[in-house]
Amino acid sequence: MPNQRQNLILGIDSSCDETSLALYEVSEQKLLANVISSQVKVHAPYGGVVPELASRQHIENLPAVFATVLREASVAVEDLSSVAVTVTPGLMGCLLVGVSFAKALAARLKIPLIPINHLEAHLFSPFIGGKPALPFLGLVVSGGHTAFYGVKNPDEITLLGQTVDDAVGELYDKTAKMMGLGYPGGPIVDQMAQSGNPKAFAFAVPKVKMGREFMSFSGLKTAVNLTLRDMPERSAKTDEDLCASLQKTVVQSLLEKACYFLESGEYQTLAISGGVAMNSLLRARALELGADSGLSVCVALPEHCTDNAAMVAYLAQFRKPASHPGVVLTQASQKIQAREIFRGRAG
Ligand code: KG4
Ligand code: ZN
Repeated sequence: MPNQRQNLILGIDSSCDETSLALYEVSEQKLLANVISSQVKVHAPYGGVVPELASRQHIENLPAVFATVLREASVAVEDLSSVAVTVTPGLMGCLLVGVSFAKALAARLKIPLIPINHLEAHLFSPFIGGKPALPFLGLVVSGGHTAFYGVKNPDEITLLGQTVDDAVGELYDKTAKMMGLGYPGGPIVDQMAQSGNPKAFAFAVPKVKMGREFMSFSGLKTAVNLTLRDMPERSAKTDEDLCASLQKTVVQSLLEKACYFLESGEYQTLAISGGVAMNSLLRARALELGADSGLSVCVALPEHCTDNAAMVAYLAQFRKPASHPGVVLTQASQKIQAREIFRGRAG
């Protein structure tokens, strides 16, 4: 029987603690299914991701998630036209599970294998289901990264600036840990911030000596720590106020930095992605910025913010297959170039 679907990409992401598979139909620009199996419950008792546990969970979860994604999309294995998989960055053991699965599947079906960079996939995730609004200023804000990119096209991505220490997601997770609120911290702190007074505590994001392109969030973590230490008595109210004050400071600093990069006039679109793009205040303020400035602001859909394979399958349509599946891990589709300022500085 001839292949019914000419452009059906299977995406796989197993870079951290989510096993995710997705199916993207390129000719219709349609996401057919995006299945995410979260390991949060497995890692929660440890207050963070345990790499060895995560890779074992991926091995257990992958076959079932694969069956589910095919069923949800009403697709047969033979219909797949290519397999895209995250090859970097991520936890090595976890990446290997997804890559091995993808290699075996591509070899069995004799279809191309497309290596994908996880960060680049996040960058394009606000555009899933349509065309990317090129050129755009991309902000990836997640548990591991907080960085701005200038994206001219899918093959021309420039790192413009980034945090020199903690990522914003990491700051949220560590704050929640210090306050004994649970894991992952982002959604909990966000929720508590809703009922708090954002002016209760005066936090500030320090300037970074290396230049305006850079950001630093570790000082905020220390400020939260000292505030908690010096507080005569903690209550639900002080916790909410602290979360609200922290959230206001973080969001303000991210959007101020976005405005700094937008000053060049090169970009008409700001695209925000990554786990922290789920944040209610960041989403609201970013959309307000768009309304006030006439700028087009695209924030990834909540289900495409935290790690998912939809973004992997989506980006794969713009990428070439690996020349040889055997070298797929070393053939990372790294398209990001660092701007001049990074040479000899941040690397
Ligand atoms: O993109 P992601 O799933 O993983 C990485 O690639 O790092 O992002 C996970 C991060 C975690 O740090 C989590 O606390 C944060 O995203 N996060 C949030 C919210 N939801 C998830 N941070 C702030 N507010 C949220 N609502
Ligand atoms: Zn991610």
